[in-house]
Amino acid sequence: MGVRKPLIAGNWKMYGRRAALSEIAALHAQVGHVSGAIDALICPPFPYIAAAAETARGGSVLVGAEDCSPVAEDSARTGEVSAAMLADVGARYVIVGHSERRSNHGESNDLVRRKAEAALAAGLTPIVCVGETQAEREAGRVAEIVGGQVRDSVPAGGAFVVAYEPVWAIGGNSTPTIPEIADVHRLIRETLQTKFGDKANRTRILYGGSVGPKNAAEIFSAGGVDGALVGRASLKASDFAAIILAHPAAV
Ligand code: PGA
Repeated sequence: MGVRKPLIAGNWKMYGRRAALSEIAALHAQVGHVSGAIDALICPPFPYIAAAAETARGGSVLVGAEDCSPVAEDSARTGEVSAAMLADVGARYVIVGHSERRSNHGESNDLVRRKAEAALAAGLTPIVCVGETQAEREAGRVAEIVGGQVRDSVPAGGAFVVAYEPVWAIGGNSTPTIPEIADVHRLIRETLQTKFGDKANRTRILYGGSVGPKNAAEIFSAGGVDGALVGRASLKASDFAAIILAHPAAV
């Protein structure tokens, strides 16, 4: 294994019911043998996290959340879920700043950074999402937008993961080309290097947006890609396992 253990994370979004938890056991059965080489993570909706962590206990699949409150201490915040609560029920990671949160809930870089810092304070690893829209790409602003999001959304210290998810590639059928993905991953790592020095070489940078069993191997071959953040194709264990087993570390 290199300095960065690959991480392949599933984001269930607002899909699934209790019955979907059987996919976690099925996933363990299919990818457990590569868990020394690759981290496999499932992030279900809040109501299912505790049961998911119970199902996953003692196995190879890690469990995380899709969001958390930026406020660390127990307080009067109706409807919010703290990172400490997530850790308490067995979550290990939390996605913050997903583009659907940024666009549907107006989440700013500053808010995303505070969520990432709250996650770290609770002992969780934040997965900080960044990515440009179609219009920003067409206007040649990828470096400016993604560089700015990285600078302003990542926590000041601690171990975190960055997920590069071009907004236009999420939920569709198209992805950037392999050289385009490698370019943005290089930009993200350089931005982290400027801010954190050597730690940037230990930070995992995932690609997300229309990753599936058919294109996973090619995407994993892009320089600087340390894994994937997967939406639709993480809902079925067979699809998600095929993605995990497509990683070159799964030998
Ligand atoms: P998708 O979603 O894999 O369904 O494109 C990715 C994401 O939003 O994380």
